[in-house]
Amino acid sequence: MKKILITRKLIKESEDKAAKTFDPIFNSNDELYSQPKVIEMSKGCDGILSSLTDKMDQETINQLPDTIKIISNFAVGFGNIDLDAAKKRGITVTNTPEVLSDATAEIGILLILGACRRAAEGIESAKVGGWKWSADYLIGKQLTGTRLGILGMGRIGQKIAKIARSLGMIIHYHNRSKLSEDKELGAVYHKDIKSLFSVSDVLSICCPATKETENMINKETVEFFPKGAIITNVARGDIIDDEALIDALNRRKIYAVGLDVYKNEPNLNPGYLQIKSAFILPHLGSATKDTRIAMANLAIDNIDDFFKTGNCKNKVN
Ligand code: DGY
Repeated sequence: MKKILITRKLIKESEDKAAKTFDPIFNSNDELYSQPKVIEMSKGCDGILSSLTDKMDQETINQLPDTIKIISNFAVGFGNIDLDAAKKRGITVTNTPEVLSDATAEIGILLILGACRRAAEGIESAKVGGWKWSADYLIGKQLTGTRLGILGMGRIGQKIAKIARSLGMIIHYHNRSKLSEDKELGAVYHKDIKSLFSVSDVLSICCPATKETENMINKETVEFFPKGAIITNVARGDIIDDEALIDALNRRKIYAVGLDVYKNEPNLNPGYLQIKSAFILPHLGSATKDTRIAMANLAIDNIDDFFKTGNCKNKVN
């Protein structure tokens, strides 16, 4: 049986499956392992089932034992892993696409609703009490008839588009390539981000974090939006230059944000905490029991397939 280091505690059903499939090393206290600890604990292992909290950078990967042949990431995103460094060491990297698209799209919609309808301010007022209803109290942006720009029209983007359309939003998108008409369902394609941002009353960021998308929301691009636009991010914090966005929020160029992901999680830029209109969540995208089990089971299957067949359909490097 292959020996696998599982860096974070999984839901019981998935740990039971792992125990039937491999000889696993579990993390029963769910300790957040340091990089040296991951290197140390992976001695004698054939693979690692990692999570987005494990920073598998070049330095870490270069020190992994030669026996490690696969890093199976328990996430669709894999920005925490240096793919080139892994490839150079002959280590396959896999992810868990599809199974979390619905849950993540739900949070994407929650971010849009929360930011547009001033949920952060509303929750705060309701808790403090003594709020006074009036005709213009906490007036927000109505979704019906509002243009939603989607940056990255993969599975999650398409699901967000579907729900947003049912709420009366008008969908625009930018993607590396234009979708076929049956997938577009009337959404308007924009070849470049300037064109997309200029029609986005609300933006939903759904694209992967790559070298190309890093800091795509920055000092220059924030000016492309209509005044008072709303930016939401369900993908990865690396896509936003926080200082530029916080500055745009303070100037009211951008009216509100809905964020689930951040650079340097869990230490988000404190500037966001000063912004009343910031609707912020602690990376809940895939946080439903069914989804977390499906993700972990897929991460286990990825390792199993790889050792049985020498290949794996969710290989990303
Ligand atoms: C992912 O899988 O990349 C999600 O962000 C996890 O919640």
